[in-house]
Amino acid sequence: MAAKSTTRSEGGKVRRVIVVGGGLAGLMTVIKLCEAKVPVDLISLVPVKRSHSACAQGGINASVNTKGEGDSPQVHLEETAYGGDFLANQPPVKGMAEAAPGIVNMLDRMGVPFNRTPEGLLDFRRFGGTLYHRTAFAGATTGQQLLYALDEQVRRFELADVTDEHGVAIPGEKMVRKFEFWDFIEAILDDSGTCVGCVAQDLKSMQIRAFTGDAVVLATGGCGIVFGRSTLSVICTGTAASAVYQQGAVYANGEFIQVHPTAIPGADKLRLISESARGEGGRVWVPKDKTDARSPRDIPEKERDYLLERMYPGYGNLVPRDIAARAIFKTCFHEGRGIWNAATGRNENEVYLDLTHKDEKFLRSKLAGILEIYEKFAGTDPYKNPMKVFPAVHYSMGGLWVDYEADARGSLKAGSPRNHATSIPGLYAVGEVDYQYHGANRLGANSLLSCIYAGMVCGPAVATYQRSIKRSALDLPRSIFDKAEKRAESSYQRILTQNQDAKQPENAYRLHQELGETMLRDCTIERDNATLDRVLEKLGELEERAGRIKCTDTAPRVNQGAQFVRHLENMLVLARVIAQGARNRDESRGAHYKPEFPARNDAAWMRTTLARHEEKGAVRFVREFDYACAGQSIHVTDAVDTSLVTPRERKYEQAGAASAQATGKLSQKSV
Ligand code: FUM
Repeated sequence: MAAKSTTRSEGGKVRRVIVVGGGLAGLMTVIKLCEAKVPVDLISLVPVKRSHSACAQGGINASVNTKGEGDSPQVHLEETAYGGDFLANQPPVKGMAEAAPGIVNMLDRMGVPFNRTPEGLLDFRRFGGTLYHRTAFAGATTGQQLLYALDEQVRRFELADVTDEHGVAIPGEKMVRKFEFWDFIEAILDDSGTCVGCVAQDLKSMQIRAFTGDAVVLATGGCGIVFGRSTLSVICTGTAASAVYQQGAVYANGEFIQVHPTAIPGADKLRLISESARGEGGRVWVPKDKTDARSPRDIPEKERDYLLERMYPGYGNLVPRDIAARAIFKTCFHEGRGIWNAATGRNENEVYLDLTHKDEKFLRSKLAGILEIYEKFAGTDPYKNPMKVFPAVHYSMGGLWVDYEADARGSLKAGSPRNHATSIPGLYAVGEVDYQYHGANRLGANSLLSCIYAGMVCGPAVATYQRSIKRSALDLPRSIFDKAEKRAESSYQRILTQNQDAKQPENAYRLHQELGETMLRDCTIERDNATLDRVLEKLGELEERAGRIKCTDTAPRVNQGAQFVRHLENMLVLARVIAQGARNRDESRGAHYKPEFPARNDAAWMRTTLARHEEKGAVRFVREFDYACAGQSIHVTDAVDTSLVTPRERKYEQAGAASAQATGKLSQKSV
């Protein structure tokens, strides 16, 4: 029997759900929970407006079809499934594609300053893996604009009173309580293994505190910092995902890491130059003569190799990211044809991304945000000179395994408590931290969409879950929370005090540098088993050395050093999931490419990688497991639901290959 009141605990306290992460997925979940009258504690590592969603540039996909090209949610589904090399379960993708036009219209009404056509319609640009203009955009700062719009909505709920069953305001209780600069440490599990809250640390006072919640939703983003340098913000260490994985949550498809084809090479960080540069006509090239020392502006058209257009005439510069990144990598690494540097006397790992043939006014209205970034960090004017770019780690298709329930139409069943539930009862995951929508390779501009859609689906799911539980987390013995708090406190003290007198202690930043170098060099675009064995060995060495870390920062307040040690320990765990998953999967699919096994192997590998954490950090891959959700026991297997779009071989040489319906209807010329 469910609890008597969903508003108050037996003890009369206001029942809440915890959302961790204030990016698009987290904020959308908060909005949906509030609409369902579920009060929320929102915990965020950074001010929510600085969440990594702010860095998304190019746009959000929705088949609104304002240009009359015949685009539709069905085509969007087909292209997403095809682009992801058929590793995504298709019902959630169908639900997302169908919801997309409504989501973009909702954002428009919230006040997102989307670019518009001269007639006043929403403008749409092309992105990778499609020939349709499907990407709505706000210049090249779309993520930031969306984030600010959702933040504004959540702020309304920060001021809204919680009301009781009779609609009477409960004094002093607001729908959203926001905790910024708090670091998630671990989920709190009751005696039955159900998640009933989380432990987090205030990064100013360093106070560790147990939060009680009837459910916890993780919206904590990706794990790109495992690779050292990437396009991701430095907060994207995957620490929360790793922590709950170590507590028993299943991690899925960890080996699928997206490398974006075009970023500014940099010593500290790799800054994204959006796919929208190519969507608006940007062309990737290298000089045909590999030691051509002329300025790119002086190299005539016929002496340039437009490699993507040559290799993939159908989609040209807008092939999906896995394919474009591999082509650039091959050109630079294997053929040694990256841009010649007369000063160093070698070919650099760089290609040109050229927009100089486009009108400056046009570029300013569509791409100013990223062109400013280029000028600032590269020091040359991209309106006049081709940019120099190279691929960079950008996104994790893998993440915490989450469930879904399909309806009779093959879409998602609205309000099912299974939607976005992890394998730990009461723990949900949304956004890049989950694995749900992108299969083996994400199409550009599907991530902002999947974040918002996941939040829209997860909010009602959690509300249903909360109604199903027998008693509120608030009515559980306090000892559960005290114990969790104490454990986290003693782990923090261990970090502060361990190895302080050691003769040869290890430095956490140095270990992270080695981790990043290893993962970036050996576990990204091309993988081979002998090298992956060495990666796993290196991880073993790093794990062992991590036990000898001396935290050099012992400040009682704002101790970023100690926080980093915790994140590093968790990154090492995720690195093993990624590398071991890559070692195991002997095929090539989407972003996972092994020259030893160059073909996709559906007979053996059309399945989700399901990883479980074992004692001593070992990874155990399972083919099936059971978990409990809202009183139901659910049996899960690694089979992929491909019932809506029949898997076929991926070929982007011809126009329209990504969509069964669209074949031949559009051509590359429609850019
Ligand atoms: O290239 C970009 O603008 C990135 C978009 C995305 O990752 O979806």
